Amino acid sequence: MSRRRQVYEGKAKVLYEGPEPGTLIQYFKDDATAFNNQKKGVITGKGVLNNRISEYLMIKLGEVGIPTHFIRRVNMREQLIKEVEIIPIEVVVRNVAAGSIAQRFKLEEGTPLPRSIVEYYYKSDELGDPMVTEEHITAFGWATYQEIDEILNLALRINDFLSGLFTGIGLRLIDFKVEFGRLWEDEDMRIVLADEISPDNCRLWDARTNEKLDKDRFRRDLGNVQEAYAEIARRLGILPEAGPRDLKGPETMQ
Ligand SMILES: Nc1ncnc2c1ncn2[C@@H]1O[C@H](COP(=O)(O)OP(=O)(O)OP(=O)(O)O)[C@@H](O)[C@H]1O
Ligand SMILES: [Mg+2]
Repeated sequence: MSRRRQVYEGKAKVLYEGPEPGTLIQYFKDDATAFNNQKKGVITGKGVLNNRISEYLMIKLGEVGIPTHFIRRVNMREQLIKEVEIIPIEVVVRNVAAGSIAQRFKLEEGTPLPRSIVEYYYKSDELGDPMVTEEHITAFGWATYQEIDEILNLALRINDFLSGLFTGIGLRLIDFKVEFGRLWEDEDMRIVLADEISPDNCRLWDARTNEKLDKDRFRRDLGNVQEAYAEIARRLGILPEAGPRDLKGPETMQ
């Protein structure tokens, strides 16, 4: 492997300098963390699966007009992306109560929300990613009103598209977290979807049994974590071991 300069090492991924200016290589690790780094573990094969799953979803989202940082996958664990200036906000879209919203409002997990709800969290490990409002975001200068408006629109479009896609393969998209960044092209700036979309940051439940097929299996010690991630990839038709099936689209379930 050629020597590359490491730009950043996070909890789940490593960023390296890319081959051209303005590009990065995103390396997907098997490391898993939860509860703001208090719980740590390794999910063997997670990096390979998340690299594939995020590639697939970013390409599909790109096809329906969502701008993303994704350029191409380069190997089992790495993808080439456009370097962006990350907006330090985690954007959470919720369709069904689970996790913190269920706790905060004493809702039973699995209760459908009256409509999709978007929440913002300030990205800060030190502060434990506190929930913030548009007021905090604009007052502290993390993003402008115009940018938040664009982010909200993109997040809802991503939710609509992904909800439909997952429904088609027998999964419920309960909620998910995304990150956005600023991408400059000449003088113009665009907000694009960045980071990753994978079972690390989506809650996905089997539509028939409500079995959890996402990182909650790790958070809550439910076992078969790797199997759950592989099941998502399998249903999307992109399981790495599948050989020729790799090129297939998602299988449809009735
Ligand atoms: N296109 C991009 N350009 C620049 N940075 C990016 C891009 N996509 C994702 N990132 C950043 O790369 C890092 C990915 O690493 P990882 O997800 O492991 O981080 P993390 O441990 O979750 O930390 P963080 O709190 O910063 O997200 C994140 O900080 C993410 O914001
Ligand atoms: Mg992250």
